[in-house]
Amino acid sequence: MYSSKITGLGYYVPENVVTNNDLKQWMDTSDEWIQERTGIKERRWIDPKTGDTTAVMGAKAAKIAIERAGLTKDDIDFIIFATLSPDMYFPGGGVQVQDLLGMPTIGALDIRNQCSGFIYSLSVADQFIKTGMYKNILVIGSENHSGGLERSTRGRGVTVIFGDGAGAAVLSRSEETGKGILSTHLHSEGVHAKELALIGPSTQRWVPEIMEANDPDDTSYYPYMNGQFVFKHAVVRFSEAINEGLEANGLKKEDIDMLIPHQANLRIAQFIQKKFQLPDDKVYNNIMKYGNTTAASVIIALTEAWELGKINEGDLVVLAAFGSGFTWGSVVIRW
Ligand code: UT7
Repeated sequence: MYSSKITGLGYYVPENVVTNNDLKQWMDTSDEWIQERTGIKERRWIDPKTGDTTAVMGAKAAKIAIERAGLTKDDIDFIIFATLSPDMYFPGGGVQVQDLLGMPTIGALDIRNQCSGFIYSLSVADQFIKTGMYKNILVIGSENHSGGLERSTRGRGVTVIFGDGAGAAVLSRSEETGKGILSTHLHSEGVHAKELALIGPSTQRWVPEIMEANDPDDTSYYPYMNGQFVFKHAVVRFSEAINEGLEANGLKKEDIDMLIPHQANLRIAQFIQKKFQLPDDKVYNNIMKYGNTTAASVIIALTEAWELGKINEGDLVVLAAFGSGFTWGSVVIRW
């Protein structure tokens, strides 16, 4: 069996910065409320004039990751693309990236696991590489939340949290043992599917039905989140997923050199940091700048931390995420 290691990282966020105060033009909110409850100061929202979309941002991040891996688009054997905000209902963003980057007719797989999308994607890529099926896999997480959020006081509980952006990694075959991805751990609990969901448009609630009803109180086509319920589950599941990853590899919390938690809420990340007694320099957060970018959040944070020199050869890096589904998981990496 081979092992897989990350050989290239990249991210792209739209230039358009939306501060907490900027949000006041659409809704009754405040910088104080948002910072105190979430830690977010600003987020990036696509300016439609730029032509950025979920797939376009994914392709931009991918280009950087491929270049940093010392590869060209023609060296990539497979694409895995995670998002909850695709440009089209179908097909998914993977084929769009294949086209945008002018790649050969390689396979493209779309992953729908929301905030855990990148964790699930890395796990799938890891399996394909370990079995020898592929050598280099491009893994992308990208979200255009701003296009689908309700910009009104009614939607403020969700809208202020989410930001746009994309990140990408190249996962490559390696013959070194004890390095690269050591293990991945995936979970779900579908009984809570509706606690964080966008119900329509879907085959259960299709566009003509929504249009015909013409109901101003219908919010089914905006994301819904039972915030406190999600929060309570998140802190438990994050901890479980991290512990599971450590135990599977015979490691202790003191062995962690860098924890990259999904950027859902700074309070969740701080709770986890405290629980695992990690010093500030062993947890990387950037929700302050980008908000919650769902499938892109872990990979953007991982890339930034690496760019800042916070991740070095031999470090034990743990990635963990929790979100809609509910789905959650972790990835343990020896860098
Ligand atoms: O990424 C996927 C996983 N997601 C998560 O893990 C998110 C988990 N949940 C959370 O992060 C938090 O629950 C939120 C940040 C979403 C909300 O924070 P909260 O402390 O749970 O607030 P709340 O929803 O209980 O709302 C408290 C109050 C309400 O007013 P009343 O009913 O007490 O008068 C809301 O209407 O805050 C009000 N509120 C706002 N006020 C100003 C809600 N949103 C806003 C807002 N600005 N944007």
